[in-house]
Amino acid sequence: VQRIAVMTSGGDAPGMNAAIRAVVRTAAFEGLEVMGVRRGFSGLHRGELKLIGPRDVANTIQRGGTILLTARSATWRTEEGRARGAQHLRDNGVGGLIVIGGDGSFHGAHLLEQEHGIPVIGVPGTIDNDLYGTDHTIGYFTAVETALDAVDKLRDTGASHERIFVIEVMGRHAGHIALDVAVAGGAEEVFIPEDDKPIEDVIEIVKASVQKGKTGSIVIVAEGVPGGAQGIGDAIQAGTGLETRVSILGHIQRGGTPVSSDRILASRLGEAAVHALMDGVSGAMIGRRGGDIIHTPLHETWEKRKDVNRDLYRCAKRLSV
Ligand code: F6P
Repeated sequence: VQRIAVMTSGGDAPGMNAAIRAVVRTAAFEGLEVMGVRRGFSGLHRGELKLIGPRDVANTIQRGGTILLTARSATWRTEEGRARGAQHLRDNGVGGLIVIGGDGSFHGAHLLEQEHGIPVIGVPGTIDNDLYGTDHTIGYFTAVETALDAVDKLRDTGASHERIFVIEVMGRHAGHIALDVAVAGGAEEVFIPEDDKPIEDVIEIVKASVQKGKTGSIVIVAEGVPGGAQGIGDAIQAGTGLETRVSILGHIQRGGTPVSSDRILASRLGEAAVHALMDGVSGAMIGRRGGDIIHTPLHETWEKRKDVNRDLYRCAKRLSV
């Protein structure tokens, strides 16, 4: 391989720039050229590729978002769109593509490899932490910090007014962000899609917490829970008669300066992605498990389910007495 390409795809995540930088600089160190693809697969099928070098990624490690821009591409779901993208890669002499993104992006990469034989490597970049094959995804640590900061602030106002705050965090179909934020934020309750918790039990717990003298309660809800925070907030207000406010944190969780853990993870995975392509690996995601860098077939990253930390879930329950 003489020349590779790199793109970010799907929802952005803090630390994606650190991953791009690691790819570009590792490649330069190894004597390879890198083309940056703008706007993910949408840009690829339109041929938006440009050579980028180590100086182009200077001063980006601390920046949120992605300098390559990103998109969720409808065209890539068509065979025709993928064929056009593959042709642009061939025309530019690209011998391998690194895709920084989540499961949707890895689906796209997988199809490109299967249909056109172009070597692809995935780097897990999503705040949701929902990919099998890595303990953490790039952006997850920062999203948890951002959500936690908001929860701490809502707790101040909630305690002053003796209100219940029901706070919705992102995570798509997974409860990883919710669980971490609940434990770190000292929440009374947490709702995650991985567990089915009767609302009646929660209403009793909230009522009991007031009787125990707690002023204000925090309930964390993962967005993937049926009804979301609004549904749960309405049920709690109706069931307890206590003043309840709902706050949906939304896309604020995707922005901001990446924390050190995300920058370090991104740097290591970006480096390993280039080495994987050089070693002739394809159709795999680079992840970190324990302290080790591992490869997982792309299709397993979405076919196998990464469970939430059940011990932490039990811990969250105990600590809310
Ligand atoms: O995958 C990241 C994520 O932020 C999810 O947590 C959320 O469900 C989704 O993307 C939101 O997508 P969009 O930015 O397209 O509204």
